[in-house]
Amino acid sequence: MYPQMIEDAKQEGNNGALRSFNFANDVEKVHAGLYQKALDNLGKNDAVDYYVCKICGNTVEGEPPDECPVCKAKKAAFYKID
Ligand SMILES: [Fe+2]
Repeated sequence: MYPQMIEDAKQEGNNGALRSFNFANDVEKVHAGLYQKALDNLGKNDAVDYYVCKICGNTVEGEPPDECPVCKAKKAAFYKID
């Protein structure tokens, strides 16, 4: 889905859309990894804190990084999911 949207945004010269679609494309891969990890450990997952980057939607376990690996936002851009 996102690769075609990225190409369309490039062709249209829509840099805002291109930025958003690239973020979404990258973050979906992170989410897929988190889902797979949870499925692989179904019934034996430890409780863990999750943080989401308010710029790109990247999600991390444990503690937020100093810099978002997807959008390069600073640690303060992450908020904890309750
Ligand atoms: Fe981010």
